[in-house]
Amino acid sequence: MDTDEFRQRGHALIDRIADYWDGIEDRPVRSKVRPGDIIAALPAEAPERPEGFDRILADFDSILDPGLTNWAHPRFFAYFPANISPPAVLGEVLAAGLGQQAMLWETSPAANELEAVTMAWLGKAIGLPEGFEGTIQDSASTATLCALLAAREKALGWTGNTEGLAARQPLMVYASAEAHSSIDKAGRIAGFGDAGLRHVPTDANFRMMPDALEAMIKEDKAAGRLPAAIVASIGATGIGAVDPVREIAAVAARHGVYLHVDAAWAGSALVCPEFQHLADGVEGADSLVFNPHKWMGVNFDCSAHFVKDPQILRKALSILPAYLVSEGSGAGPEYRDWTIPLGRRFRALKLWFALRNIGLEAIRGMIRNHVAWAEEFEGLVTGEPDYALAAPRSLALVVFRFAPAGVDGDALDALNDRLIATVNETGFTYLTRTLVKGRVAVRLSIGNLMTERRHVLEAWDHIREVARGLSGNDD
Ligand SMILES: Cc1ncc(COP(=O)(O)O)c(C=O)c1O
Repeated sequence: MDTDEFRQRGHALIDRIADYWDGIEDRPVRSKVRPGDIIAALPAEAPERPEGFDRILADFDSILDPGLTNWAHPRFFAYFPANISPPAVLGEVLAAGLGQQAMLWETSPAANELEAVTMAWLGKAIGLPEGFEGTIQDSASTATLCALLAAREKALGWTGNTEGLAARQPLMVYASAEAHSSIDKAGRIAGFGDAGLRHVPTDANFRMMPDALEAMIKEDKAAGRLPAAIVASIGATGIGAVDPVREIAAVAARHGVYLHVDAAWAGSALVCPEFQHLADGVEGADSLVFNPHKWMGVNFDCSAHFVKDPQILRKALSILPAYLVSEGSGAGPEYRDWTIPLGRRFRALKLWFALRNIGLEAIRGMIRNHVAWAEEFEGLVTGEPDYALAAPRSLALVVFRFAPAGVDGDALDALNDRLIATVNETGFTYLTRTLVKGRVAVRLSIGNLMTERRHVLEAWDHIREVARGLSGNDD
């Protein structure tokens, strides 16, 4: 493809994306293809000779397009959002075209320095105290893994990397049972193992109990184990639980344990001053992660990882072979030692485009709308006799059950699983499940830029219509 054709194809591709957004509401939210359909429709080997772009796009339309689950759909209420915005998508396209590789300062001063600036903007926007510095990771999972590696090395006096973990005291990390599975995974990779992850009991509001945390740490110390890290959640995945960071930070400080805060989803809401109380005490944390790719209009991947003392992270992850020594080293910001891969994308560009072209005020407006509509949805659930909240609403996440009289226990679980499956099959809206105290519940999570109040109300009508059909079948 020469640059003339690239120009023409590129313009048409942007038109295609705009058409996709304009027509997205007519699509099913969840793809209707069956497992294996797409693999079966594609050749088993790459072509030897070039194929025309029209032909490739025709295959995209006939084979891949039906396999899209439409995350940007205004009635996408599953998981947490992975929202996008036009300026961020343009930033992504430009970053791809520029082919920057931001591993060292001198391999892309623009990418490294813009990352420093946009992360400082974000830190201020979410009310982080002075002193935190940030980098952009691909995901919250990576940020949490880096945090646990830093915590491990700090606890081991910086000798784990050099001497290995054999014959060491067992390393311990603490998180509530509500915490995301990325903490379990990070614990495995960082050498804590499942045995080194303790789930701290939660109170009636699913918040980690600081007293129980402290008791566990004391018990582990007395038994010769090494408490290294605590992960507190602000907006855990299942029901959006928020741990009391201030009290947890006090425990961490008393015992010299590293504190990481996982605010992957809810962190974006901290741009609204009225929600910043959720992070009360965050100045006592060592690091925090949140995902602008979830709820800030920046397309995946863009995960903001803030640390109070970057030196801890660098000491844990730094490695400098001869071929990476560069003239620019130390002259400007450089993030390869804040993360796992050496190669780094120019992610700051899409963040910069989005923050500038949307503006914080509009991001706050979007988040406030989502929270207000979730509150309205919560009211509809509690006002309907056959429905009940399964947990208190958290920001724009409502967790509820279809609970007709006389159905309980396993039968109620099965009924709610059927409700979710049937709703999702229709393609009209898309919901996910969770367990609350071991019992199935339905999650409705609002977070898309294109969602309007009417979409939430339409989803509620649809859920009730499907549920009526199901309970009718049960009779
Ligand atoms: C609370 C929480 N933490 C971590 C993650 C993992 O995020 P990522 O996909 O960026 O690794 C999620 C994903 O939804 C989450 O909800």
